[in-house]
Amino acid sequence: MILEELGPARIAALVQDDRVHKDLYLSEELFAIEQRELFSNTWSFLGHASQIAESGDFFTVEIAGQSLIVLRDEAGEIRVLHNRCAHKGAQLLTTESGRLKGRFVRCPYHAWSYRLDGALLSYPLRSGYENTGLKACESGRGLAPVAGLHVYRDFIFARLNPGGPAFHEYFGDVLPMIDLMVDRSPVGRLQVAGGVLRNVVHCNWKLYLENVNDSVHPVSTHESAVRAAQAVARDHQPDPMPLALEQILPFGEKYEFFEGMGGKVFPNGHSISGTRFSVHSGYGNLGEYVKDLQAAHGEERARQVLEQAPQNTVLYPSLALKGSPQTIRVIRPIAVDRTVIEAWNFRTVGGPEMLLDRALSYSRLIFSPMSVVAHDDLHLFESQQKGLRSGPNEWVSLHREHDPREVDHPTRETSGTSELLMRNQYRAWAKFMTMNMKDE
Ligand code: FES
Ligand SMILES: [Fe+2]
Repeated sequence: MILEELGPARIAALVQDDRVHKDLYLSEELFAIEQRELFSNTWSFLGHASQIAESGDFFTVEIAGQSLIVLRDEAGEIRVLHNRCAHKGAQLLTTESGRLKGRFVRCPYHAWSYRLDGALLSYPLRSGYENTGLKACESGRGLAPVAGLHVYRDFIFARLNPGGPAFHEYFGDVLPMIDLMVDRSPVGRLQVAGGVLRNVVHCNWKLYLENVNDSVHPVSTHESAVRAAQAVARDHQPDPMPLALEQILPFGEKYEFFEGMGGKVFPNGHSISGTRFSVHSGYGNLGEYVKDLQAAHGEERARQVLEQAPQNTVLYPSLALKGSPQTIRVIRPIAVDRTVIEAWNFRTVGGPEMLLDRALSYSRLIFSPMSVVAHDDLHLFESQQKGLRSGPNEWVSLHREHDPREVDHPTRETSGTSELLMRNQYRAWAKFMTMNMKDE
């Protein structure tokens, strides 16, 4: 296939009601279109405001192959600028994060410098530009801001295309899941802590994102890790239960548990698995903290915040939340068969350090490639990426609990094991891939 042949009708036909074509995971052409369309039309998570606590703090991030600078300006505002010098395109900042020494950014190539709002501040040999067209063109305007920026309770999101849905329209009723996470802090504030776990998975990003809400696989995929944890618990009967066992043992639940925990889908690909309960529901009580939370938010809200502990919430296409244990995963595609997965952890400001310990322990145990759990998943993602190339079957089945009428209800509750959560992701995929394409 060549790009020109992949018009909107052909792309949409790759997503059927109950299955998707394997090209979604294998085609480099589709990956290029995803970068240009899907990741530019949707809202991507960039990072958390606590990563840039002071004026001049910055971090860099890549969305849809475009390099961005996220910084806090002199007035304390968060700004997101394209990391592309207005002169000849050099990246202004090439480190992951840091603090700017002055109140400006200077290009290392020919020393053009910019204010923290992106405006061109100065450039050498100024007289050489007199009576030229510089000031009237894009280069004279300095660093371009990103088209759409929204900071929701310190979670920073951006949309690259000027068109596309507005922030609240796009995320809609899934945003309260961020509130649930932030309100675990009595003062309503989270802080990134403990560094980031970043690893490259040799698979298409959609295989990873599907797995985030795949509550069927733990029974088989993580069987050996669970058996080992069960053996330790049985042989040593530790009291109190160590954090690691508290976190791994619930993965040994049966299919009925995962089915009964409930799921929910929302328009634009978002979903929750574990609306009723989840593997995180049984974590130990934290004593005084409960009282602090009640005093801060009232009894009803405190109860909600502590009782609702979904397995995963997907804010399509780049973010997966675990409100308890206060960790997030960020999905950053870099090639059709390469995806960077980041796991970040939060300190709950005003809450006990134990909550951060839980987050860090969970990330090490479940998300790190050196963990006793993630390598099971990583092996399967990479084996899917290879296996999909074989054989005459060109389709990936998403039939579990398919109901032809489900498309009439874009917000819908379902079982915890329904593949509606994945079908919902692919319906959003087809929508955002083609929304700006002209008919063939
Ligand atoms: S490329 Fe930045 S100053 Fe020339
Ligand atoms: Fe898994």
